[in-house]
Amino acid sequence: MFNLLRPQVSSIIDSNKTPDAKMLAICELLKAEVPHYDWVGFYFKNGNKRELKLGQYTGAPTDHTIIPFGKGICGQVAESNENFVVPDVQAQDNYIACSITVKSEIVIPLFLNGENIGQIDIDSNTPDPFTKADETFLEFVNFEVAKIL
Ligand code: SME
Repeated sequence: MFNLLRPQVSSIIDSNKTPDAKMLAICELLKAEVPHYDWVGFYFKNGNKRELKLGQYTGAPTDHTIIPFGKGICGQVAESNENFVVPDVQAQDNYIACSITVKSEIVIPLFLNGENIGQIDIDSNTPDPFTKADETFLEFVNFEVAKIL
């Protein structure tokens, strides 16, 4: 599945849409094609503030449009610069719930010129669905998105 999605992500990146429209199209592609992706969005560092701001996303609207560094799974990734795979969100102390249907989450940092400037965040209503293949694919997605930022 991910091998079929890679060229589709690249063709969105190479299209003549705006950067925001490209990121939205990628969110929509991933949510539509990956059965265990129920909410897909990008957060980016908010200027010079130590906080993340929600960018393009698809799925249920969230109240968490600003997340301070260190808070929740997303805020922790802003500081750790590392992938964070959460098989069971209820087992996490430092977690910000967006919807009661969410069982698991994966957050992959997005690097531009070696700097962690944002992340892709995916919520799943399936328990423990993520494998190394998700991580590798989402690292690829972020690498492609960095080209248009
Ligand atoms: N669950 C995230 C908050 C963002 S929502 O999933 C969209 C977190 O703990 O950082």
